[in-house]
Amino acid sequence: MTIHDITALHETALSALGKAENAEAVEQLRIQYLGRNGAIPALMKGLGSVSAEDRAAVGKATNALRCAIENAIAEKKASFTETARGDARPPCVDFSLPGRWHGTGTAHPVSSVIEEAVRIFSRLGFTVADGPDIETNFNNFVALNTADHHPSRDASDTFWLTDDLLLRTQTSPVQIRAMLAGKKPPVRIVTPGRCYRRDTTDATHSANFHQIEGLYVDTVPVSLADLKSTLAYFAREMMGTDVKVRFRPHFFPFTEPSVEVDFSCHICHGTGCRVCKQSGWIEILGAGMVDPRVYEHIGYPPDTYGYAFGMGVERIAMIRHGITDIRLLYENDLRYLRQFA
Ligand code: DAH
Repeated sequence: MTIHDITALHETALSALGKAENAEAVEQLRIQYLGRNGAIPALMKGLGSVSAEDRAAVGKATNALRCAIENAIAEKKASFTETARGDARPPCVDFSLPGRWHGTGTAHPVSSVIEEAVRIFSRLGFTVADGPDIETNFNNFVALNTADHHPSRDASDTFWLTDDLLLRTQTSPVQIRAMLAGKKPPVRIVTPGRCYRRDTTDATHSANFHQIEGLYVDTVPVSLADLKSTLAYFAREMMGTDVKVRFRPHFFPFTEPSVEVDFSCHICHGTGCRVCKQSGWIEILGAGMVDPRVYEHIGYPPDTYGYAFGMGVERIAMIRHGITDIRLLYENDLRYLRQFA
C-alpha cells in the first residue's frame, strides 16, 4: 500500500459521496468506508506490512483520510436533515425544558402617576381628552383670558414657533378644545400631557414636564365645594387616607375665584421636614371656578357653572417616592427607575 492508493481512495470516496442522493445512500457509504469491515479499517490493518521507513507517512495519511471522510459524511448527512426540516418536519421541541425568561419592563413613575390619576378621576365620571403639544396663541392664552402683557407670554418663558404657534406652556388649552368640541355643557374631562417652558433645568425645574388638567362645566350649579370634594377624594386615593387638603387664595387668569391646593406632607405627615421646607404642606395644584370671560370666548351662556384644575405630574411622583431631584426622572437610568415599579 502506498500514498497513491490512499489518495485514490480519497477521490473515489468523495466522488461517491457527491453522487449520494439521500441519507440512506450516505449511510451505505459510511458502512463501506468506515464500518468494521470497511476500506479504512482494512487500510489500518494493512499498515503492518508497510516498510518501516514508509510506515509513519502512510499511517499519517491514512488517519487524515479517515478524518476527511468522516467530516464529509457528517456534512452530507446534515445537508439532508436541514432540507427535510425546511420542507416539512417541524423543528424538534423539547417540552420538558424550562421556559425562556423575557425581561418585562416597568412603568416609569411619571406614567404610573398619570395612569393612576386617570383611574381615580374616571371613577368620578371624567373621561380623558387629548390635545396637541403645538398650540395656538388663542387656545393657550387668549381664550384662557391671559392679558396681552402677561409675563407668561414673554419669549423668555414660552417657546414660540411662529407669531401664532407655540409649544403649550400648560395643559389648560385642552379645556378650550374640549368645550369647543363638546358644543354645549356638560363637559367633564381630564387631560394628561407634556408642557414646555423656557425654564433652566435644576432640581425642581425642567423645560419639559407633564401636567394633568381637569375641567367640569355644567348647566346645573357646580360650586367650589364640589371642586373641594373632588380634589379631596383625589388626594386620598393618590396619597392615602390620612392626607389633609388645604386651599389658599391665588390668582389665575382663567378662574375666579382661584386657589392653590396643598396636600399635607407625605413624608413627615405634617410635622415639618426638608421636603416640605418645615411647613408640613406641599403645593400640588392650581384650581378655581372657570372665569365667565373664558365662556365668552367659547360661546357658552354666561350662567354656565364649572371648575378647573391643573397639577404637575413630576411633583406628585417626586413626593410619592421621596425623589429630591427632578432630573433623576429623565436620566433614564433603569437601575434607578426600576425600584419604583
Ligand atoms: N395652568 C396652570 C399652571 O400651569 C395650572 C392651573 C391652575 C390649571 C388653575 C387650571 C386652573 O385649570 O384652574 O400653572
